[in-house]
Amino acid sequence: MGRRPLANVIVIGAQWGDEGKGKVTDLLSKSANMVVRYQGGVNAGHTVVVNGQTFKLHLIPSGILYPDTECIIGSGTVIDPKLLIEELDRVESLNISTKKLMISQTAHVTMPYHRMFDRASEERRGTEKIGTTGRGIGPTYADKSERTGIRMVDLMEPEGLRQQLTWTINYKNVILEKLYNLPPLEPEAVIQEYLQYADRLRPHVVDTSLKIDGAIQSRRNILFEGAQGTLLDLDHGTYPFVTSSNPVAGGACVGAGVGPTSIDRVIGVAKAYTTRVGEGPFPTEMNDGIGELLCDRGAEFGTTTGRKRRCGWFDAVIGRYAVRVNGLDCLAITKLDVLDELEEIKVCVAYELDGKRCEHFPNHSRLFAKSSPIYETLPGWKRSTAECRNLEDLPSQALDYLKFLAELMKVPIAIVSVGASRDQTIIIEDPIHGPKRALLHADGTRAITTSIG
Ligand code: IMP
Repeated sequence: MGRRPLANVIVIGAQWGDEGKGKVTDLLSKSANMVVRYQGGVNAGHTVVVNGQTFKLHLIPSGILYPDTECIIGSGTVIDPKLLIEELDRVESLNISTKKLMISQTAHVTMPYHRMFDRASEERRGTEKIGTTGRGIGPTYADKSERTGIRMVDLMEPEGLRQQLTWTINYKNVILEKLYNLPPLEPEAVIQEYLQYADRLRPHVVDTSLKIDGAIQSRRNILFEGAQGTLLDLDHGTYPFVTSSNPVAGGACVGAGVGPTSIDRVIGVAKAYTTRVGEGPFPTEMNDGIGELLCDRGAEFGTTTGRKRRCGWFDAVIGRYAVRVNGLDCLAITKLDVLDELEEIKVCVAYELDGKRCEHFPNHSRLFAKSSPIYETLPGWKRSTAECRNLEDLPSQALDYLKFLAELMKVPIAIVSVGASRDQTIIIEDPIHGPKRALLHADGTRAITTSIG
């Protein structure tokens, strides 16, 4: 059978989000004809650095930075039109065309009451709060499930919208006033505001599943980009400290409206250490000088909220879990350079739980909360890796560290990132076009075991 020249690839976060997916998807977007964002909303934030210029994107796929790449915001996302328009304005002000952006007509719309509910419910929860981004994400998805949501297609039809919003806002006002003691919203003011957003977004709103299918049929190369990360997945993450959508690879099919048979590869992105924003258990968290050093060197502050991220050692238990629930073909390891100054580096290889060694992620919040890490310690390299562009350039200890991670997770590493800019990258093997599994294995070989048939 002849080799298929291109592949459809899902890129997911293998930890708690902020793994550097923005940089990886930006790099891979160069080879993609279409980039599809399939879940989440403006809770996400991608930072991409191109020619020294920093781009912060929340909803628009980073493929927008390439002139010929079509970009899709899929059905599984939730859209805050005000913030999306601000993002469009920012991108256009840099002379980047947004004409090739398509928005799913079935994506749900974040309304003012969603943001109000998100903040008010976090306040009400007090010490039990989730630590959300406050962008109304959870309440928008809750309305989707409750079947009281407003979709992009509703926003496009003024008369229907007026009727639907009048009813919905009157209903939501009861909750705002009676439950949260907040002032009610004036339906007409919200309707007018959202009708203006509709006018601006109308040219972009289409049946995106159909567009994606067209690209699949003409054998174009599609990159599905996840937001957040595996451990923030609503079904498979550290519930209840999760987001309200499905960042895992399976979420790409639902959120884009494609079948699983169209997907060729799944790439996981993980930092060389671990971070987490918001509340919830984090076994390898370091509340010490090393945690501070990682935070400083890694500029670990949220793109969306500016919140300081919690930092910890690499956790291979959650890594193995991410390999399993996403079916990862390979990994991109980011921010290796952040570890450059360390004398020694710990890696969590298993957990201790109730006096027993546990190799698997305990998908049970009470058990996960009392899991403590079992570490192995590796020597640091105490040398800058920022200028390394090939595996051969890396200090031997850094290479050993990467091999150790690959061995622990039983998955090859395809890409290593040693800095924020595009060129600060070691491409071990092109994960889209290269033969499947011709990548860095734990033993350092690049054995080809499978190729795309
Ligand atoms: P929400 O998505 O705003 O509801 O927040 C739920 C949880 O997901 C909180 O712990 C947030 O900090 C976390 N979260 C949401 N989006 C991101 C992200 O893009 N990166 C990292 N954490 C996120």
